[in-house]
This record gives sequence, structure tokens and C-alpha cells, in this order.
Amino acid sequence: MNNPKRYLITSALPYANGPKHIGHLAGAYLPADIYVRYLRAQQRDVVFVCGSDEHGAAITIQAIKEQTTPKAIVDKYHALLESNMKDLGISFDVYHRTSSPIHHETAQEFFTQLNNNGQLEIKESEQFFDEEAKTFLADRYIIGTCPICSYENAYGDQCEKCGTSLSPEQLINPRSTLSGKTPAKKKTTHWYLPLDKHEDFLRNWILEEHQHDWKTNVLGQCKSWIDAGLQPRAVTRDLDWGVKVPVADAEGKVLYVWFDAPIGYISATKQWAINNNKDWKPYWEDNETKLVHFIGKDNIVFHCIIFPVMLKLHGNILPENVPSNEFMNLEGDKMSTSRGWSIEMDEYITDFVKKVNGGNMMVDALRYYLTAIAPETKDSEFTWKGFQDALNSELVAVFGNFVNRTFVLMHKLCNGKVPPLHSDIIDDADKQLVADIQRTKGNIENNIEGYKFRDALFDVIDLARKGNKYMQDKEPWIVAKQLGEDGKPTPEAQQKIDNSLHFCLQLCANLSILINPFLPFTAQKMCYMMKVLDKMLSWEHAGKMNLLSVGYSLRAPELLFRKIEDEEVAAQIEKLKMKSKKMNEATNTNSDYTSIEKAEEKKPIIQFDDFAKIDLKTGVILSAEKVEKADKLLKLEVDLGDEKRTIVSGIALHFEASAIIGQKVVVVTNLAPRKMKGIESNGMILMADDADGKLVFVTSDAAAGNKVS
Ligand code: MF3
Ligand code: ZN
Repeated sequence: MNNPKRYLITSALPYANGPKHIGHLAGAYLPADIYVRYLRAQQRDVVFVCGSDEHGAAITIQAIKEQTTPKAIVDKYHALLESNMKDLGISFDVYHRTSSPIHHETAQEFFTQLNNNGQLEIKESEQFFDEEAKTFLADRYIIGTCPICSYENAYGDQCEKCGTSLSPEQLINPRSTLSGKTPAKKKTTHWYLPLDKHEDFLRNWILEEHQHDWKTNVLGQCKSWIDAGLQPRAVTRDLDWGVKVPVADAEGKVLYVWFDAPIGYISATKQWAINNNKDWKPYWEDNETKLVHFIGKDNIVFHCIIFPVMLKLHGNILPENVPSNEFMNLEGDKMSTSRGWSIEMDEYITDFVKKVNGGNMMVDALRYYLTAIAPETKDSEFTWKGFQDALNSELVAVFGNFVNRTFVLMHKLCNGKVPPLHSDIIDDADKQLVADIQRTKGNIENNIEGYKFRDALFDVIDLARKGNKYMQDKEPWIVAKQLGEDGKPTPEAQQKIDNSLHFCLQLCANLSILINPFLPFTAQKMCYMMKVLDKMLSWEHAGKMNLLSVGYSLRAPELLFRKIEDEEVAAQIEKLKMKSKKMNEATNTNSDYTSIEKAEEKKPIIQFDDFAKIDLKTGVILSAEKVEKADKLLKLEVDLGDEKRTIVSGIALHFEASAIIGQKVVVVTNLAPRKMKGIESNGMILMADDADGKLVFVTSDAAAGNKVS
């Protein structure tokens, strides 16, 4: 859509069940904020909405953990998230909450319209039920082994390890998170959104219409969903926390959190309109509105498939784009609040923004690094060392240095005023600099509009780098040594100094405009130094070379960024390790059914002769299938070079049968045969525990049949 009349920009509503980490920030909030600040600088009509997602099992389970009510949980974490986002400069126009009455009404109205128009299906089904807790077990109330990646604590709606969206039936060895018991099944009635009926629409809209403007990671996920065949999705749940199903006789039922939460974007817009005396409707109903959802990759299916179907049925506009990011890892591992392997936004704010000297310059430092390593096309990794390098060698050494030198020299060589421009001595280097500024502006526009925020940021830094080079070549501090009889620089020398610093200052003004969407606090500080109002940051001014008037006196330079010291890096890494250790100890003692038992008993010493009795060979798994009525066993066919053996192995909970075909293994070949579930097993496969307690194969590089000793 070229030149839309207005924009509605959303960031995924974070669950108000705990603090959120900087991976979330980098995924859905910071890029949206950059985009919005850019649009605002262009005087576009833009509304940026977000809020807390306060329903669903994520909340009620946290309430059980903290031994309090769901209401107390959302009140506490909504306040925390709202203040964290503000501290980090995320400039929502409204930060709403889904527990508000206006949201409940909006979600119920939405459901009612779809239901009344016959666009939902009602079906009876059997669902997992915890006899002990006397409750149905939806979504996160049920955990089990992921059928895709074998992660043992996958939720009933999603595996957090591999990101696959699941239904409870798919879990291997399902367990109730309330009692730890294997659940029973019980009949219940629910409303379904028949996604299967909208397959053609989705295929056409996503894979045809948007095949060129949506990101490939997003298109790829959508395609595999659609190709796998879409199923009706239940949009109600048996729970008592959430938006009540607005139908008579639906006691004890609420809307599925993923049905109500995205409607939160609409109710947030309504709240914004009330606060600002505006009309919300065009933002959701007028075709000239550009709707863009910023999310992380675990939310793709909900924003690209389910919500658009809901919007279409309800008569709303559809998103123009869903620029989803991949994940950001941390120091070599997946970021996770529950495992303590994370940097929470709140922690960063406490350690860098509020406590030690830093303040908002450290907000911009974080915004800088997170954008520079944004997982735009693939997973990326935050390291404290990387943060230190980016800050010290790019922000401080390139951007900060250029601005600082310009101001220091202007005070020293030009009386603290914007020097005049002597047009008769403008040279090629000057012209080149002006051309670079204008070209950079265009590049940044293209990159931001194409959701390539990393590239856009590098464009800005690159321009600052060009500024440094220009200054280095012009070396006004050397020119200033050509003194006249009065002990001052000669008139020719002063003219050269004037021109170079005039251009450097105009470049500073341009840099403040161009950096503003990314590092808003830095841009503000630069405006202060230049004694201009933030009006100057308006995008239309970018590329101009007369932003600072000749003769205007400017302030002394302020420190824009500070370096990060080695000790700070070391302290943060130590803190991270301690936190994760503490969390892991806590989970291992608290929840006996999720922890992996690691009883390490030492066995008595044996003689070499005893060991030599064991025949070990390299084998290759040719086929694998589940053993009926034995959820732990796999029946394997193993190639041992000159023979094939049937071996029954107790690894079914750890590996998908299809995933281990071709796996090289080490086999004990002279173990006495043993019958398991009626199948004779002829040998044993060696396994090992890895550092996480996960089962892995002991393997060998040799060809099948070769002896292992
Ligand atoms: N709370 C969800 C999550 O953290 C995101 C909800 S996005 C919305 O994964 F669209 F539903 F609001
Ligand atoms: Zn998985």
C-alpha cells in the first residue's frame, strides 16, 4: 500500500505473568517503536497500540506458583511491564490491558457476531481432565514430551523448545501440571473456528498477494501450516479466568486466550480513542489504513492465519504485514525467564539505567545493540562481550566521537558559534559529504519501510564514520596552526576551518534526525546541545544543509555514550550464571514431576577380564517403530555389517522413531536375548546423559559391524 492514509501499529501483547526479557524487547517492541518513531517524524497519522495479555493459563498457573489470585498477578505484572516499556523508550500511544471491561465487551461482541452469523461450529469432544483437581486441562495445564523435538516439558498448546504449535493429544506421556498425574478424558462442548473453510482465502492472500512483501521466514511458516491442512480450532475453553463465553448455558467456559488477546489490539485502539477524543473505527475498518503486527516467531500462526480469518469474518481490515522476528539467544543458550537464563528488561533498567551512572544513554546503548543484532532473518545471539564491543567501538568510537570532536573544535576554533560557509572554496570532499548525507537518508527510508532496521541503523553509523573520515582529511586542528602576524590563523586558514566545521555541524544535525527513531534519547540530547527544538527532528529536514544557522551559538558537548568496562561485563556474566543456577535448583526441588532424576551411584571396580567379555560393535539404525502398549519402547532394526538385529530400546520418550533412522550407534552384541512385550531383543544400544540430563546416543564414526573397544 503506497501512501496509506493512516497506520495502526501493534506489538504482541505480553503475558502479564512475569517480567519480560530483552529477547522480547528485540523481537516485538523495539522494532515497532523504531518504525513508529520514523512514521511520526514524517507527520504520518499513526497509532501504536499494545497492552498486557492478562488471560489464559499462563496467568492462572503463575497465580498458583505465587500462591495468589490471577487478579493479583496481572495487576502486579501489568504495572511492571508498563513501566519497563516506558523506561526503555517504547512509545506506545496506549498500553492497555485485556482484563478491562472495554476489552471484555469488545471480545464478546466479536464472538457473538461470528456465532450469530453461523461462522463458528459447536462440537462435543473428549478432553483431558484431572480427576484430582476436578478440572479440564487446557493448553498449559498439560505438559508432556514434544512429538517433534522430544523436549519433555512441552505445553499442550506449544513446545517452547522448538516453537511448534501443538494440541494436547499430540503430547507423548501427557501429565497434569496441577497434580503431576496422567489425565483422564472427559466429554465437553466447545466452539470452533473452521479454519479449513478459509484455506483458499489464506493461500491466496498470503502466498499470492503477499509473496513478495512478507518476510521469507513468515511466508515459510504460513506455507507449511496451510500445506499441512488447516483444522477447525477451538476458540473456547473450560476455565474460569478469562472472557466469559457470551451465550446462555456456557457456565464455566471462557474465550480461548488466543481468541481474545488479538482483539485486544482493537479494544486498545478504542481506549486510545476515548483518551484522545478520536474515532477508532477507521483504524480497523477503512481500507486506507495500514495495519502492521510486530511479533516474535512463536506468534506467527496466530497473527497470520487465525486472527486474519477472524478479522475477515468480522468485517475488519487485514494486516498489510506481519514482520516477525526469529529468536535472540543469550550467551550460547536459549533465553528463558523460567530457567533464569535471561536478562529481564527490569534487571537491565535497575543495573544500568537507574543504578550506576548511565541513565537514558544506557537505554539507547541497549536499543543500539539489540537493533544491531536483531534476529530479523535468523536467530541471533546477545553476548555481554558483543554488547561491550558494539558500544565501545561503534557508538562511542564512531558516532559519539564524531559529534564530540565537532563540538569541541567548533568551540575551540570558531568561538562556539556555527561558522559561515565560504562558497567559493567548497571542494569535492565537501560535495561528496553532502551527497552521502542525501543518499543515506534515502537508504534509511527504504530499509525502515522494508522492516530492515539493522541495515537502516548501520546506514546511520556509516554516515557518522564518513563524518570522521571527512574531519580526519580536513584536519582543522592542523590548519589552525597556519598563523598570521596577529598570532591567529590566517584568513585563508580560518575559511577552511569554517567550512569543514560548518559541514560537520550540519552533519551532526542530520545525524540527530536520522538516529532519532533508533536512539531517541541521544537525539534529544543532541537537540539540547544544538539549542534547537525537537521540531528539527522532523524527517523532512533530513538531507538539508542549513539546519543550524550561521552565527548561532551552541552549547558545550555533552557525553552521549559511556564505555562499558571489562569488570561490568564479567559481573553480568557471573550474575547470569548464579541466577540460572539458583532457578534450576529451585525447580528441581519444587516440582518433582518435571525434574530429571539424576541419581549417580558409583559401581564397584571390575577387572579388565570382566570388561573384555563385552562385545561392542558399531551399528546403524535401519528402522524404528513404537511398541504397542508400551510408551517407552521402540523396536529397532540395526545393521551390524554382516547381520541385522532386532533390538528393543527404552528410548521412545526421548526420540521420535522417524528421527533416528540412519543414526550410528554402539551396540552390546553379546547380551543374552530378552523378551519385552513379546518381542525378543538381541542386544543393547549404549546411551549417555548430556549436560542437561537429556538422553543422547553414544556414537561411533566407524562403519557398521566394526568392533568398538
Ligand atoms: N501473550 C502472547 C505471547 O506472549 C502474545 C499475544 S499477542 C496477541 O506469546 F495478539 F494475542 F495479542
Ligand atoms: Zn518441540
